[in-house]
Amino acid sequence: MTIAVSTDSSVSSPPTHPLIRLFRYGRPYRSQFWLATLCSVLNKTFDLAPPVLIGIAVDVVVQREASALARLGLPSAQSQLLFLALLTLVIWGLESLFEYAYARLWRNLGQTIQHDLRLDAYAHMQELELEYFESRHTGGLIAILNDDINQLERFLDFGANEVLQVLTTVLLVGGGFWIVAPSIAWMAMLPIPFILWGSFSFQKLLAPRYADVREKVSALSARLSNNLSGIVTIKSFVTEAEEVTRLRLDSEAYRQSNQRAIRLSAAFTPLIRIIILLGFTALLVYGGLEALSGRLTVGVYSMMLFMIQRLLWPLTRLGETLDQYQRAMASTNRVMNLLDTPIAIHSGQLTWAEIGQTIGQQQSGFDPFNGRRNGSGSDSGHTAQGALGLGKPAAGNLVPVYRSDHSTAQPEPTSHAFQPAQPTADPSLFPIRGEIWLKQVSFAYRDFQVSDNVIRPVVIHDLSLHIPAGKTIAIVGSTGSGKSTLVKLLLRLYEIQAGEILLDGVNIRELQLAELRRAIGWVSQDVYLFHGTVLENILYGSPTATLADAIEAAQVAEAHEFIQNLPYGYDTIVGERGQKLSGGQRQRLAIARAVLKNPPILILDEATSAVDNETEAAIQRSLEHITQNRTTIAIAHRLSTIRNADRIYVMEQGKLVEQGTHEMLLEQQGIYANLWQIQMGAHRLQSLP
Ligand SMILES: Nc1ncnc2c1ncn2[C@@H]1O[C@H](COP(=O)(O)OP(=O)(O)O)[C@@H](O)[C@H]1O
Ligand SMILES: [Mg+2]
Repeated sequence: MTIAVSTDSSVSSPPTHPLIRLFRYGRPYRSQFWLATLCSVLNKTFDLAPPVLIGIAVDVVVQREASALARLGLPSAQSQLLFLALLTLVIWGLESLFEYAYARLWRNLGQTIQHDLRLDAYAHMQELELEYFESRHTGGLIAILNDDINQLERFLDFGANEVLQVLTTVLLVGGGFWIVAPSIAWMAMLPIPFILWGSFSFQKLLAPRYADVREKVSALSARLSNNLSGIVTIKSFVTEAEEVTRLRLDSEAYRQSNQRAIRLSAAFTPLIRIIILLGFTALLVYGGLEALSGRLTVGVYSMMLFMIQRLLWPLTRLGETLDQYQRAMASTNRVMNLLDTPIAIHSGQLTWAEIGQTIGQQQSGFDPFNGRRNGSGSDSGHTAQGALGLGKPAAGNLVPVYRSDHSTAQPEPTSHAFQPAQPTADPSLFPIRGEIWLKQVSFAYRDFQVSDNVIRPVVIHDLSLHIPAGKTIAIVGSTGSGKSTLVKLLLRLYEIQAGEILLDGVNIRELQLAELRRAIGWVSQDVYLFHGTVLENILYGSPTATLADAIEAAQVAEAHEFIQNLPYGYDTIVGERGQKLSGGQRQRLAIARAVLKNPPILILDEATSAVDNETEAAIQRSLEHITQNRTTIAIAHRLSTIRNADRIYVMEQGKLVEQGTHEMLLEQQGIYANLWQIQMGAHRLQSLP
């Protein structure tokens, strides 16, 4: 069966041109943009001066005292030449100056925008729900963050200036022609519409081919990143040859796609050149005849011959620039689409601080475990003293305390590792009791693979569960029954589709996401360690913790001993994804990391599945201490590890089918009792001589 899902379809507004999207994004850089534009235009203006200077020089030597300069008040040809020399010097100086200025401005603008865009895109990507990542290739996402943003940077570096300068040339030279020789100016202008028409037709033809190239390159990088992370599997299954073949196919597809684009784009310049040639020869002949008949001065004729080159040749580069523009716009679209992807899981507004203010008045939570009300008001007055609340007299209602002050800058974890412990008598600490209440929760994963939003079968089915503050519950059940999913729903990694989840009586949708997730320590079923040292991995997410805290946490997780035996102890590099450690070692680091976080709620999802029985028992003993006054959810396969839980739930196909203490469940003679007997039987067999 399936459940109805209200889908956010707020992305259906008409598509905006990527250039407009880019302009909108680049609003803060507008002044820099206009300044760079000004410098590009001025540079081109001065760059176009030499043919004019040549024309004037010819005019000076041919016409002498009757030249144009003479009419401006310079009677002798010598003084005219001197003036011309000075003018040349100034013009070339200014040209160089503005070239330097525009190059710097455009390239800096390119750098700034790519930097900001990458950070924004990455930050936005982090906010997106897991389903977004699950339906996409990592390689493709990396291609957006790297290649597409670099493409845009390249266009801003050079392409934008190119476009502006071509425009300036056409306007200035064309305008100049109309002023000095309107009778033949049309001849110089004649090829322009054809060149433009040719360029734009090419652009239209090329666009889909370049889009295809982008698709192919992202498929290629997806394959590469997939294979590199699965290298062990490839080796062990001896599929190297197959993988090379598959890569060859992808790479070949990329090559062919590129070749299709090249075939077309390479034809551009030669074709356009013919059009230019026609314009040039027409002016050469017709203008020459005009000059011979005296209707055109020699100076203007020679200037125009030089100028038409300056006018038409840059237009041939227009194709290339449009190419680049096209690629940049395709990339812009992809980056902007990412930035515009709506965030499906919205953070709530409430903080624990706000909730803490009302907690004294509100007493909630009937404890079904022992039939009395729990969560007395005195709880809220207590704060734990040490990082882990360890080694202290077993105060009856010691409440794990949650630090809700995140406003302070968080320095690098390593630099903090050796500082003395922070005093915890801090007004920003608010107690979270850790009462969890799931009410008729239903959930199904969504699937974006085929079309938009295919809803898969229900994983959590109308499930209700109440966990009183400070209790330890265990969930057991066959694999695929939805245990891990349930935990992810608590963390709001996925959004439930029906029912509600309350934490301390507050709907988790109303809580700020960070506040919710910081309150929960989660040792997930598949541990992920970052490339870095053991210490950095333990300190991850607890930037103010010290080395001593980390060691204490490692001891609780039974990890201290093996860490000490590593070649560099706590400074040993664990490798990418922690691959230099064994599965059990990774799990113990993950437990240490969660313990160090000192959260009011601890979730252990098969957290000790990869450690041996003795170590597991040892972890169990030390965790018992830690979990005493902390809401704990333990998911386990080995029932012996959870038999002491306050309550055990058996989950099957998204429903809780049995519940009770270990003894109660054994009496029920149901699934649990059956499982227990099997495991005990196996255990007895194992311990036979
Ligand atoms: N990210 C996901 N996308 C789609 N389906 C999923 C995803 N994760 C788990 N499932 C499916 O949900 C069901 C429950 O999985 P899970 O909660 O991991 O089970 P358990 O932890 O009890 O072994 C399984 O049928 C699994 O195939
Ligand atoms: Mg699981």
